[in-house]
Amino acid sequence: MRTKGRLVLSFAAAAALAAIGSHLIEGVPAAHRLTAQAVLVSAVAVCLVWWNVVAPLDQMAAWLKAVRLGAEGRPPAPDPAGLLGPLVHEVSRLGQSLSEAKAAAEAEARLRAAGASEWTPERLKAEVSRALGGRPLCVVANREPYMHVRRGGKIEVLTPASGLVTALEPVLTACGGTWVAHGGGDADRETADADGRLPVPPEAPRYMLRRVWLTAEQEEGYYYGFSNEGLWPLCHIVHTRPSFRPEDWAHYQAANAEFAKAVLAELDGVREPCVLVQDYHFALLPRLLKAARPDARVGVFWHIPWPNPEAFGICPWQRELLDGLLGADVLGFHVQAHCNNFLETVDGALESRVDWERFAVQRLGRATLVKPFPISVDAPPPPPAGAGSAREAVRLAAGVHAEFMAVGVDRVDYTKGLVERFRAVERFLERNPAYVGRFTLVQIAAPSRTHIKRYGDLNAELDAEAARINARFAAGGWSPLALRRRHHGRAEVLPFLRAADLCMVTSLHDGMNLVAKEYVASRSDDDGALILSRFTGAARELPEALLVNPYDVDQTADAIHYALEIPPLERARRMAAMRKTVREHNVYEWAGRFIAELARVRVREGGHARALV
Ligand code: G6P
Repeated sequence: MRTKGRLVLSFAAAAALAAIGSHLIEGVPAAHRLTAQAVLVSAVAVCLVWWNVVAPLDQMAAWLKAVRLGAEGRPPAPDPAGLLGPLVHEVSRLGQSLSEAKAAAEAEARLRAAGASEWTPERLKAEVSRALGGRPLCVVANREPYMHVRRGGKIEVLTPASGLVTALEPVLTACGGTWVAHGGGDADRETADADGRLPVPPEAPRYMLRRVWLTAEQEEGYYYGFSNEGLWPLCHIVHTRPSFRPEDWAHYQAANAEFAKAVLAELDGVREPCVLVQDYHFALLPRLLKAARPDARVGVFWHIPWPNPEAFGICPWQRELLDGLLGADVLGFHVQAHCNNFLETVDGALESRVDWERFAVQRLGRATLVKPFPISVDAPPPPPAGAGSAREAVRLAAGVHAEFMAVGVDRVDYTKGLVERFRAVERFLERNPAYVGRFTLVQIAAPSRTHIKRYGDLNAELDAEAARINARFAAGGWSPLALRRRHHGRAEVLPFLRAADLCMVTSLHDGMNLVAKEYVASRSDDDGALILSRFTGAARELPEALLVNPYDVDQTADAIHYALEIPPLERARRMAAMRKTVREHNVYEWAGRFIAELARVRVREGGHARALV
């Protein structure tokens, strides 16, 4: 239509020119009139050709030259509405593909030259850019990576204690893109623009944070209620009863719709966009996104366990949740067992075909691939020089007057086995009195979801247990348990991980548990021992850890003893093996594999059927 319009316009202009010319020609002597008419016709023809053909071709040639010479981005193409519109359109797509292919080839060459076999931020950036053809990444997670809070009249930025944030922040920093999250800080609004957007990390921006605003009532129902009093205990099965209230469910649906609106606004103008939806807060989002943008590639990563079908089936809205998740093209869990549980749940609850060969669900003419992608961490910054003295400094600063220091780093959550951990320390001291006065567990405990009664009760229980055990053993300024209950940033936690003789991860159930991997990644000295619950995803990847059943207090107490008395060579062998695993399977590999899988999905623009390659 626009092409036609331009043509009509140019012919109208030519006709007007011809009319004016004819009028002028009338004044020319008859002998020269024929020549004058010929000149007029040629002038009009030249103008038409110049406007509709020569100028666009010139612009196109200049643009192709720019692409050939390696110009970045998308240079403005000549007007696609002109006579050459269709040709211009095709050539601009060709040029775009050329520049993408060139960028990918250069990145590959750089990687080959560096002999890179490990995943680094640079490699992830190159691979993602190639896989997505330069399209930006869009991540949706309830928790934001940077939260602005008001403290004592000043605005501070804090990084929330969340395994999800630990894992995804380095990925966004490496690849760029947008992170859509709930703006939950009390100074979040005034630090973002009118659309809730702000570039982050605040000190050196690399990607965009898009905050979504929820009312206190919505947050109560969607986040505290349905997500954390319903789905969280439902999926962890640690004998805390889930609550499913219809009013929370209504807020969960509304919040998912609210996030869908924000994400769709971010995807505006991007062809075949790629969205990575995170966690149990957004089970309905994949279906909502696909309905609005069938050309989008939608991946979901479920960061917590998926229980067996009987356990999941107690949720009154299990079919709606499953249907929402099956809107995704790829659904990832940490381990195969959670994928199997999910597929069995779908098999029993929905009309669908579960393909156990490919681990996919076929439903309503499309497929969702269900695969394990064990999440991980990035490498911490190198330790400061003089690490030996730093070790003593950390203990002294923490007020630890003991020869041996263990560390635990957790949100205060009933899934983390904190009470069991404290009781294991008590049992260890009972059984090994020689360690009384010589061993302290420093428990870094980030307050979490304190609004929920079960969490409040747990805080009280932890205080009481720590007080009871300390009262039983403490003497001369020493105590066995140092409970540091406040938010600690990563930079504050790292020295503890490096200085500890052992790290205790005793979750009663955990999708992965990244503290275990962070501890291992931080031990560049190949020293230190890891006590790890066998009910974490991490236990499957780190068999060299001292694996325990956290419900078995005696076994955990024995593991503490073994960790302290283990021959140094054996300790170093175990740590080196774990470090190798975490180094080779870091979070960049996780993101690279997940996004590559998603990029392989064929989507049909405007259509509904899509197939997995
Ligand atoms: C788990 C969840 C994350 C969550 C984190 C912290 O790791 O999988 O989605 O962000 O806990 O919990 P919070 O409720 O504070 O975000």
